[in-house]
Amino acid sequence: MNIRHEFDDTGPDAEPLRHVRKPLPHDSARRHVMGAADYIDDVREPAGTLHVAIGMAPKARGAIRSIDLTAVRAHPGVVRVLTAADVPGKNDVSPAAGDDPMFADTRIGFHGQALFAVLAETRDAARRAAKTAIVEIEEEAPSVSVEDALERAETVLPDYGFGRGEVAPALDGAPHRLQGSLRIGGQEHFYLEGQAALATPGEEGDIHVLSSTQHPTEVQHVIARVLGIPDAYVTCEVRRMGGGFGGKESQATQWAAIAALGAHLTKRPCKVRLDRDDDFVLTGKRHDFRSDWRVGFDDEGVIAGFAVTHNARCGYSADLSQGVVDRTMFHSDNSYFFPAVRIDTRRLLTNTVSNTAFRGFGGPQGMLMIEHVMDRIAWATGRDPLDVRYANLYRPGADVTPYGQTVEETDTLRAVVETLERTSEYRTRRAAIAAFNDRSKILKKGIALTPVKFGISFTLMHLNQAGALVHVYQDGSVHLNHGGTEMGQGLYQKIAQVVAEEFGIAIERVRITATSTGKVPNTAPTAASSGTDLNGMAAKIAAGAIKARMAARAAERFGIPQEEVTFRDDRVFAGNESLTFAELARDCVMHRVHLSEAGFYRTPTISWDRANAKGRPFLYFAYGAACSEVIVDTLTGEYKVTRVDILHDVGRSINPAIDIGQIEGGFVQGMGWLTTEELVYDETSGRLRTHAPSTYKIPVASDVPEDLRVALFPNTNRMETIYRSKAVGEPPVMLANSVFCALADAVHALDPARPVPLDAPATPEAVLRACEALRGNPLPGSAPGGGGRVA
Ligand code: MTE
Ligand code: MOS
Repeated sequence: MNIRHEFDDTGPDAEPLRHVRKPLPHDSARRHVMGAADYIDDVREPAGTLHVAIGMAPKARGAIRSIDLTAVRAHPGVVRVLTAADVPGKNDVSPAAGDDPMFADTRIGFHGQALFAVLAETRDAARRAAKTAIVEIEEEAPSVSVEDALERAETVLPDYGFGRGEVAPALDGAPHRLQGSLRIGGQEHFYLEGQAALATPGEEGDIHVLSSTQHPTEVQHVIARVLGIPDAYVTCEVRRMGGGFGGKESQATQWAAIAALGAHLTKRPCKVRLDRDDDFVLTGKRHDFRSDWRVGFDDEGVIAGFAVTHNARCGYSADLSQGVVDRTMFHSDNSYFFPAVRIDTRRLLTNTVSNTAFRGFGGPQGMLMIEHVMDRIAWATGRDPLDVRYANLYRPGADVTPYGQTVEETDTLRAVVETLERTSEYRTRRAAIAAFNDRSKILKKGIALTPVKFGISFTLMHLNQAGALVHVYQDGSVHLNHGGTEMGQGLYQKIAQVVAEEFGIAIERVRITATSTGKVPNTAPTAASSGTDLNGMAAKIAAGAIKARMAARAAERFGIPQEEVTFRDDRVFAGNESLTFAELARDCVMHRVHLSEAGFYRTPTISWDRANAKGRPFLYFAYGAACSEVIVDTLTGEYKVTRVDILHDVGRSINPAIDIGQIEGGFVQGMGWLTTEELVYDETSGRLRTHAPSTYKIPVASDVPEDLRVALFPNTNRMETIYRSKAVGEPPVMLANSVFCALADAVHALDPARPVPLDAPATPEAVLRACEALRGNPLPGSAPGGGGRVA
């Protein structure tokens, strides 16, 4: 494997920084490898801990007639069974809409939905007992597919759309028109640590819960709601997750709340750790879509008008579908300007598990759709797909998004694409591939270069805030806490670097501590890639305030102005004097200087008025581009990604090692979504058929492209973000669109006169169907992806 990393922090404007911009390893890297990083199931269980198993609905839709739990209760080892009737507060674990019962009590919304929970002395007893319930349901035919939901016209949220200009005349007046439907699959999070929580009861109804959640505040709040107690009685703590990827933004809550209810009622600690198969069935995934689009363009492929309706399969409840599908709308342009545009969405109710956040949060679906349209235009006009992309790229004067925000860095966007075109040798390789395809009848190669533009900020405005708590102890060690959670993305280390930099101390002095609602309250989820932007600022503000008080004390002691006191290399310099950071800390305590601070940060500038579709929802955009090359065996549909070149913009990186790790991981996860990961629901029963790694294929080490070259684009954030960095967590997922487009490009070589009927995921089976369709022998189940016509 040839994985090359490129970054450069030695340029002419390199800053005198000791910690920030250094490629330090993840704070737990060694512990991860040694098995010394504790996940919830590794934490020593308190004596008397009960184990929880979930009783699941055997049907997908209908009224509950009866649940007979006699055998469950009588099962050896069972201590108690919890149902909706045991909930003292509100039986609702939803993030907002009030439509997610913790235990279904009147109706079933999907196959597998939680009906009850068994508390037993052992996990095995709980799981065996849960299977003995007798459940009767007045079964109705479930809505499973997008088409089922469209036919019944059932939605979880109102339809929503926005646009600009008059689309119909723009389409009618364009020299060429195309239309089509692209299906885009969902994705299971497959975090290595499944959903888990350990709740311990305290005095007078207090509850302490360890939860594998991206959103400790919501876990706290929902537990309080379910138990009918004040938030202040509940503390949620998270040291780390073994991956979240959005799957623990809202959907860790239910399991923590069930554990808390068990602890509340039995006065014993209760632990939930979902079995992998149950986790698949019980928790939501990336939304899958059918996106119906129309486009009008000229001979050069320049778009005059574009319209799309995204039909999103949301599952049985709203969950985060408002924000997710809105983000699909905000990214339906990706990097391209539409003179006239209309974007509509339907948030369809289906009797499947409620779909939720997944890295990119709806953005990837919108962007894949428009990249597919770019290819369709290229095939129709005969132009190189990259040239069609250039022809539509945002540029000065054509830089306003469909939602009215101006793209301020059109220069960055173009420079990223042009640089990658050069460094990947796109044109030479394109020619070589064409020559290869002329010679090779069965094996076909394909290449694609696609851009990424991803908006950074929560589009739900109040979430753009963060807090941090910093203490300096009298030995000069520093306790660091903030509202962000660690899920593998390296947030804790980046913020420790920021704090070490601020105090001018060795990073070892900064003790990273577990996120807790008791230390920093009212936090946003760690999501929208904003963890470092928000919490890094809050921590810098807190450390800066303590540092100012310490500097004032040093100034007083040495009789010099405070501005002349500097902190570096673990020392504090005041005129000709200096002392260690620890000595000054001790001196401050002796002189009654306050060495603790809570920092708070809110993102400036942004606004979004959803009702009128107006504002500036994003503080800035992160950019990137990827060029992928593939080879396809057109007789079997098997393929390989042979080379990938990535150029990605993280502004000025706080930690290039972690950022490059995020780019590689995000890309591979995106590649999994578009290639091998396929969710299948039984069309009649609504049961999820792919609920284990035996039937659901995530990428493994051997799927990482043999030749993967990742470089950071030298850039600086024009907004005043923390050390002028840019968010990195989600945008790289969409670099994988290049793999999907490269596969289509390879298949296209079979018959350049026709569009490639390929939907996502482009599994080998799907690729084979596309090949056979182009050869004129369509196989059953052929994709409608290429169902468009050239008018
Ligand atoms: N990286 C790892 N290793 N594990 C994860 O669960 N989640 C992703 C991304 N990178 C994730 C990850 C998602 S969905 C988001 S929103 C961001 O990290 C959240 O963290 P950040 O805001 O600190 O980037
Ligand atoms: Mo990430 S999908 O915003 O948790």
